[in-house]
Amino acid sequence: MLDAAARVGGSWVGALSRRRVISCIERVEVCLRGGCCAGKRLRQSGTRHTGCESVLARCPLIVPAMNGNAFGEETSDTMLLMELTKLNTTRSDYLGLPDDVKSRTVEGFHGVSDAATTDEEEDRHIVDNSFSVAVGQYMSKQYRKTIVSARDVLRKNDRGGYTVPTDGLYPFQWNWDASFTALGWSTWKPERAWAELHMLFKGQWDDGMIPSIVFHQYDDRYFPGPDTWQSPKVDPPTTGITQPPVVASCARYILQVSQHGDEDVHLRGLRNAYTLFHPILRYHRWFYKARDHKKMGRVSIHHPWESGMDNSPSWDEALEHVSTDNLPNYQRKDLMHVDADERPTQTQYDRFMSLVFSFRDVNYDYAQCAQVSQFQVADTCVNALLLKANKDLAWICAKLISHHKRLSLSLEELEALKSAQRELRELIDLSSRGMDSLWNDELGMYSCYDERMDKLINVPTSSAFLALYARHPDRVRARQLADKLAHWLDQVKYGVPSYDPESPMFDSVRYWRGPVWLVVNWMIAEGLEAYEFFELAERVRRDSRALIKEAGSYEYFDPMTGEGCGGNCFSWTSAIQLFWFPDL
Ligand code: DGY
Repeated sequence: MLDAAARVGGSWVGALSRRRVISCIERVEVCLRGGCCAGKRLRQSGTRHTGCESVLARCPLIVPAMNGNAFGEETSDTMLLMELTKLNTTRSDYLGLPDDVKSRTVEGFHGVSDAATTDEEEDRHIVDNSFSVAVGQYMSKQYRKTIVSARDVLRKNDRGGYTVPTDGLYPFQWNWDASFTALGWSTWKPERAWAELHMLFKGQWDDGMIPSIVFHQYDDRYFPGPDTWQSPKVDPPTTGITQPPVVASCARYILQVSQHGDEDVHLRGLRNAYTLFHPILRYHRWFYKARDHKKMGRVSIHHPWESGMDNSPSWDEALEHVSTDNLPNYQRKDLMHVDADERPTQTQYDRFMSLVFSFRDVNYDYAQCAQVSQFQVADTCVNALLLKANKDLAWICAKLISHHKRLSLSLEELEALKSAQRELRELIDLSSRGMDSLWNDELGMYSCYDERMDKLINVPTSSAFLALYARHPDRVRARQLADKLAHWLDQVKYGVPSYDPESPMFDSVRYWRGPVWLVVNWMIAEGLEAYEFFELAERVRRDSRALIKEAGSYEYFDPMTGEGCGGNCFSWTSAIQLFWFPDL
């Protein structure tokens, strides 16, 4: 089996299985520490690892190794052992692999790595007969097919270094889409993942802002394009507003996975992270400089598009203050690609465009925008993700400092990192205070804040649960959020709905007024796991898998029927599939 795998497996085996095994081992560690009931049972009984449905069941590969360990037997699971030897030694030692097994598998792994192949060859191997012989016992035909098709979505949407969210409807590079999409690329092409982020930074403005869209190539199928925005950034042209800052967090996850890979991959990861580090920090600083109007750590959005949750009911009241009196004629193009029932209404769209024109009139100068914007809302999603992004950037910073010799950093560069580390600590404190001010007692969850009206917006949306992803709430609030989420999940077939399913305005197919988004699910599940709400996290994960499996790679999904909505062949959906459940 080892030979067969070495002949045909190539780096695909390395990338995917390693990622799967790492995440399983991390979860198993939590179990064994007694973090879940099955873990407690295991510790008490010292018996075979047959339990822990929520963890071990996800990875058929790990069970034989754990059993082998428990009974002092050598496991015959060569594929797994090859992966384990690639993990850091603490973890493989923790599994107690016998030395001779370790050394044989290291040898075997080198054989596999040497057989590195091109993309297309890798995919052929997934369905190739000899490959099936090697690993067929672990991978169903369906599994192989879904991996190939998820990668195909990214390849199809690849425009040479950047990925469009979907052809036609969104034919450029979007800020938060690109960051999540990089996670997908990282599962088999780490360099391509970093390239995605570097391309995004080509759009960075002098003041540090990363715009919502970078128009790398002209395409007239989308409105509003560069001719309408007329932003001062021309090479490449961009919009004049931003989007939720997830780039630091995605860079952190990509770097984190690379630590478990080859030395080379890790070093290249560190170099890429270093190149991006200061530009990302400038982006974060921009939020506090340009958008923390009251200097209390709570940053505002000036346009619903900046939230990424364009059509959320949270904006309804605040949008009513946006006048459309001087709106010039314009032609929407989104309805050429997607059913009108699934998109913002004309009234909403008119307000979106009025805001764009008002920013254009002041040439996107951030101080003037703050004066003219008739819409200023502190969004829970943006604030939670900025807090998480600061924490993740601090994590990256610590890694860069500890690897400064490998990176050959000068003393000056090292000092700059240390000072950035102090600054990030302050930003984390500041944003934590900002998040606290978004707690809404009436709703029993976080909500958005209308800065112009100076009041919390009493609209319950799924963005509240992102506070868990930011690791922000204390245990009491975290429990309240988990209970609320569990209640929402009981009202739908597939979670997580973007808006309270019991609200009379809930609409299961309209953009951000009910449907499920896979990227949001992933972040919520991450947060739930961090607070050890394993069962709930597993439910979100199970629903997400089912949606992909049953409907395909859609932009979003109807929580009542599971039907796919919006654009199809959607990059971030496939990317999250690859990153989150490569064992689909
Ligand atoms: C759109 O055009 O609908 C986009 O979401 C704006 O970023």
